[in-house]
Amino acid sequence: MRIEGSSILVTGGSSGLGAACVQKLTGQGASVIIADLAPPREDAFGEFGERAIFARTDVTSEADLRAAIAAGENRFGPLRGAIACAGILHAERVLGREGPASLEAFRRVIEVNLVGTFNTVRLAAEAMARSQPLEAGLCGVVVMTSSVAALEGQIGQAAYSASKGGVAALTLPLARELGQHGIRVVSIAPGVFETPMMQNAPDKVRQSLIEQTPFPHRLGRPEEFAALVGHVFENEMLNGCVLRLDAALRMGPK
Ligand SMILES: NC(=O)c1ccc[n+]([C@@H]2O[C@H](COP(=O)([O-])OP(=O)(O)OC[C@H]3O[C@@H](n4cnc5c(N)ncnc54)[C@H](O)[C@@H]3O)[C@@H](O)[C@H]2O)c1
Repeated sequence: MRIEGSSILVTGGSSGLGAACVQKLTGQGASVIIADLAPPREDAFGEFGERAIFARTDVTSEADLRAAIAAGENRFGPLRGAIACAGILHAERVLGREGPASLEAFRRVIEVNLVGTFNTVRLAAEAMARSQPLEAGLCGVVVMTSSVAALEGQIGQAAYSASKGGVAALTLPLARELGQHGIRVVSIAPGVFETPMMQNAPDKVRQSLIEQTPFPHRLGRPEEFAALVGHVFENEMLNGCVLRLDAALRMGPK
């Protein structure tokens, strides 16, 4: 799909990986709906000009997402892409010093990372499916954000890994079904990227993750994630898969 001229929803677009996608896509001539709980940084709109709008959205809310999609359709025309980046990190041992892990926290992580992603995809797909197909029957592209923690969850990552494993597992059934509507679905499983989410992790944890990353021996840059998202949009054969973007990182137990 051509990025230029397309209207694309980016959840979590105010920060980190999502914000890098917004920057890349608007830079290539797409129009973007930033759907996030928090607004983008103050100078963002100077940079994006008329090509981005912010819709305050909780991805777990049907009403919020419908409103964000409708605002985008009114302003930019048919929705052609959705990138689900909204997510939260949570670390807690199952059996901690103060007793078993919080069930409420587990539910919250699943609710935002997995249910919120599914909510985004189902409503974006509905909007894409009602649009006039482009070349070769294509109606839209969906990119979801999983994590290497879906496969190599560390101690303390039970909730986060379960949520990201759910996103990975959603990919194929969504691609199989939505292909009938001309929609491709791909997930990206990032290793460790330099974003506010990771900046908030304790130094010891960041350092250990860098040490476990074979080459390049550093955290990923958000623009490297955005570059892969751009490629997913442009390469029609990418569908129904989970792409690792991790510099050969295979996380150990801690
Ligand atoms: N940074 C990494 O190393 C890394 C690695 C693997 C996967 N991921 C995943 O990538 C995605 C983006 O992470 P990031 O590092 O850019 O984090 P980030 O904290 O910088 O950005 C996440 C954004 O999501 C928004 N958000 C949180 N809850 C929301 C909700 N309920 N509704 C709408 N917006 C909400 C936040 O306001 C924030 O703007 C997340 O799903 C994360 O789990 C990140």
